[in-house]
Amino acid sequence: MSQAQPASRRILVTSALPYANGPIHIGHLVEYIQTDIWVRFQRMRGAECHYVCADDAHGTPIMLSAEREGVSPQELIDRIGKEHRADFAAFHLSFDNYYTTHSPENRECSERIYRNLSERGHVVARTIPRLYDPEREMFLPDRYVRGECPRCGTADQLGDSCEVCGATYDPGELGNPVSVVSGATPEFRDSEQVFVRLADFEPVLRGWVRDTFAPPGEEERRRVQPEIANKLEEWFAAGLEDWDISRNAPYFGFEIPDRPGKFFYVWLDAPIGYMASFENLCRRVRSEGGELRFDDFWAAEATTELYHFIGKDIAYFHTLFWPAVLHGAGFRMPSAVFCHGFLTVGGEKVSKRRGAFIQARTYADHLDPEYLRYYYACQLGNGIDDVVLNLEDFVARVNSDLVGKVVNIASRCARLVHRLADGRLAGRIHDPALFDRFANAGAAIAGWYETREYGRAMREGMGLADLANQYIDEHKPWIAARDPERRDEAHAVCSTGVELFRVLAGFLKPVLPVTVEKAERFLGTPPLAWSDLARPLGPGAEHRINRFEPLLTRVDRDRVDAMVEASGGR
Ligand code: 2FM
Ligand code: ZN
Repeated sequence: MSQAQPASRRILVTSALPYANGPIHIGHLVEYIQTDIWVRFQRMRGAECHYVCADDAHGTPIMLSAEREGVSPQELIDRIGKEHRADFAAFHLSFDNYYTTHSPENRECSERIYRNLSERGHVVARTIPRLYDPEREMFLPDRYVRGECPRCGTADQLGDSCEVCGATYDPGELGNPVSVVSGATPEFRDSEQVFVRLADFEPVLRGWVRDTFAPPGEEERRRVQPEIANKLEEWFAAGLEDWDISRNAPYFGFEIPDRPGKFFYVWLDAPIGYMASFENLCRRVRSEGGELRFDDFWAAEATTELYHFIGKDIAYFHTLFWPAVLHGAGFRMPSAVFCHGFLTVGGEKVSKRRGAFIQARTYADHLDPEYLRYYYACQLGNGIDDVVLNLEDFVARVNSDLVGKVVNIASRCARLVHRLADGRLAGRIHDPALFDRFANAGAAIAGWYETREYGRAMREGMGLADLANQYIDEHKPWIAARDPERRDEAHAVCSTGVELFRVLAGFLKPVLPVTVEKAERFLGTPPLAWSDLARPLGPGAEHRINRFEPLLTRVDRDRVDAMVEASGGR
């Protein structure tokens, strides 16, 4: 299981692009934290792993938000872009590039993809009736019309689905429809739209989902999780309809080259934003004298790995539209798409529409972001189950595991190593079998990170922390240290405690990058790589550790309460 050092892996990873019209909340962070842990793990293993993301800056909601605020869309997306970057930095997300879809690179990539699709005969234009707001003189997206549900009659339902009875329908079927933009009664007008013929790609998509693949040095795996493969089966069975990739002006986005007044639908150019952010990174790397080539990761024949982390609600876009568009335009398809569940609080999904419960900023103003990284890691598996936020559980878990178990090992042993030997580690491991147990756990833990089973990795880590604490309790080096004849033994025991702590810190580094960076300073080691962990520091090396500095403090319940209060209390 993941034992070989996969030096030859070249990986590009993305997280979904957040919309540039609202703040990041802790629901979003499930995905960014999940992705960042995976990326950091791959880098620790020695893989070349690039992580790119961007703001999703186009579309009607952003255009209307800007209008409501009395600013231009550009001003809005610039401001939100800054806020998103600051929020993500606070949570230690290690993007190589964070860009925007409203960029020259994205325009170039989108036009190139559209041209390729057109030249290969996958694009058709058709005139269809669309809802039009005669007051605002604009075509209305589905969600900008509200009215009575055609099935149950409930008033004020969305243009495409009923929140009460769950029916889905066409906005034209709503009773007494009203434009959300102006309050006017919408009417139908003919409009020419541009479609991608998805059905052209059904055989290729079926093959893509069915195929397994094996990254260098790794086991065979599937491209999508079983639940998503089943969904795809349903979508195939229902038939793949042509996908409307155009929207009428006024629209904030890219105008379609050969169709004045028509714009690319935001969901066409959003995933292309992954490519564009990567292209922007390539340009920067090259301008700094480095080497990074777009084609190595996107050309049809690319042999590198490409992974998209997304929420289960946007699987349709990433497992149907996106691979189809990539293939149809002559690019490679993703190696795999990893879906996760939602964050729920008290049984309710945390989402922007409900008014996000706790914003990333509010959290970071009150609590250490690494607590949340750990709390999420404990719950994350490779399925699409929801992650639950329970604040009592959050406090208890962080305090008992990270502070009570992990940091405790270091703080107990470090002081004694300084008192007994001025910080020099003993020349021997006092309990080699225990050290081997730690070192050998690396293969299983690596396997769990690789397959996104972080909860299992954390449980294994805490089991090891318990063993280390039991070992120290059993040998009581602080008592042995008082007896001149047993000082060597005391020194060897607490040195071994430091060595065990180091291995554990390495295992937790993808989750707790800042705490482990402090630990590296205290241990006097360069940044820990996965392959360093199985070799102890001390024996034969005369290794000296630095003064212990507090690594992580207990979660203070009052701070949690203050955060909830600042979030509007709930
Ligand atoms: O659902 C969303 O929040 C979208 N902004 C995600 C886009 S992901 C990618 F396709 F760009
Ligand atoms: Zn209804």
